[in-house]
Amino acid sequence: MSGNDRIRRQRRRTRQPHGGGERIRAKGGRTSGSRQWLERHLNDPYVAAAQREGYRARAAFKLLELDDKFGFLRRGGRVLDLGAAPGSWCQVARERVGGKGVVIGLDLLEVEPLAGATLIQGDVYDPEMPQRLREALGGAADVVLSDMAPNTTGHKRTDRLRVEAVAEAALDLAESVLAPGGAFVAKLYQTGGSDAVTDRLKHGFDRVRHMKPPASRGESPEVYVVATGFRPAASEDETPDPDTVR
Ligand SMILES: C[S@@+](CC[C@H](N)C(=O)[O-])C[C@H]1O[C@@H](n2cnc3c(N)ncnc32)[C@H](O)[C@@H]1O
Repeated sequence: MSGNDRIRRQRRRTRQPHGGGERIRAKGGRTSGSRQWLERHLNDPYVAAAQREGYRARAAFKLLELDDKFGFLRRGGRVLDLGAAPGSWCQVARERVGGKGVVIGLDLLEVEPLAGATLIQGDVYDPEMPQRLREALGGAADVVLSDMAPNTTGHKRTDRLRVEAVAEAALDLAESVLAPGGAFVAKLYQTGGSDAVTDRLKHGFDRVRHMKPPASRGESPEVYVVATGFRPAASEDETPDPDTVR
């Protein structure tokens, strides 16, 4: 078996890639910033492991580590992956839900086709998107993942607010497609305090936990929130009339 599109057998635990061996140095002719980036990339054990295992990005290991810890990807499950390009989280979801599961990926960018996944190019803010995704899922989702990352500005507070805004858009969408008991996983930036997404999740889910998976670079402010046990809000039709309830 080889190539990006193969679906591997479900792994029991993620093997942690480790460094070792000689450090590779980038050749000259580059600015120091791009040389540093290239050296870090060439020496990153997760990049090597992703290449070896046929994943489209090292980010695959973040999802593997999150799922090893919290176990939200179940065989036969329906998964919606928001911010899917280039597709490594969809690859992991495919492996873990198996042939009877459903994986739908959405991104602003075009994603190279992936066997067993439906990939939609579009914007999470598009008001037509919830309906489109519900149709593609063919039923309520068991898991909504969001690794969406808007373009960064380098200004910490602005970047944190942008990441939080896109995670809130993911949560709005999740609330309209998730099955009761479902899970929501999203990228946030560490704040050291509370954030609007976590506050909302605490009201709508049984358990809310945060994790910075080992595959997430130490210098990155990203952290993932994992909420399980979705409790849909009662719709207005189901809310008892206060005049008739004693
Ligand atoms: C870090 S990448 C995701 C990597 C992916 N999880 C993987 O493993 O291959 C973040 C993605 O979020 C997407 N994104 C950002 N804003 C978005 C939006 N409003 N709607 C849909 N996708 C968005 C970007 O286009 C980008 O491809």
